[in-house]
Amino acid sequence: MRIHVLEDYQELSHKAASFVASQIILRPHSVLGLATGSTPRGLYSHLIQMEDLDFRGVQTFNLDEYLGLERDHPHSYYYYMQEHLFRHINISRAGIHIPPGQPDDLEQACREYDRAITAAGGIDLQILGIGHNGHIGFNEPASRLKTATHVVDLSPTTIEANSRFFSSPEEVPRRAISMGLGSIMRARKILLLASGGDKAEIVARTVGGEITTRVPASLLQLHQEVIIMVDKEAGSQLPRGQDGSE
Ligand code: PGA
Repeated sequence: MRIHVLEDYQELSHKAASFVASQIILRPHSVLGLATGSTPRGLYSHLIQMEDLDFRGVQTFNLDEYLGLERDHPHSYYYYMQEHLFRHINISRAGIHIPPGQPDDLEQACREYDRAITAAGGIDLQILGIGHNGHIGFNEPASRLKTATHVVDLSPTTIEANSRFFSSPEEVPRRAISMGLGSIMRARKILLLASGGDKAEIVARTVGGEITTRVPASLLQLHQEVIIMVDKEAGSQLPRGQDGSE
């Protein structure tokens, strides 16, 4: 794992955007795995400002989607992606993939999503946020983790954390569809972003703690090319020597 501790959220977002932009410039037909949540917003907003960056050849696969929300519901991840990235860039509609939030057949939708990732040649660069409980995508802590795209019952801590986007915790959908650990771990490169002191403990456990399905992000220690970018607060519990300060 390569760890970069940046001064603040602005710098983190700027550095992450430069990293993603280099990927697209070097490989215009890149397949990107995309995350939602508050952390990557700054990254997306910097990418939008890079007016010469050409997304026409890029394909994207989002990590997850709530089940039960219409696509144009303001809290759906489809809506989030349109608002924060897609409607501002020249990506083709056909290049965008987000798990469906209201499929007729859930199992079939999961299999189709995995087939589409495979057909695209797998993910070149996967962007990840991290939950306080160590989830990546909606792969929640459990005794066993799923490798393929699957339906998830969201954990109480995730419902609580995500309720800040809704008017009350009761409004947060209880289930989601998420890419599995297999698709994430097969990505050629992984860029994990974390910001804020509330992420410091889980970042330290991800980087240096026991590798366990109880902290899904800890499995990233087994991946060959993981880049972790955190701001000072999120990096504050990294052991000396592991904090790669800049
Ligand atoms: P956040 O979410 O970026 O909103 O903190 C991260 C996550 O839950 O994966």
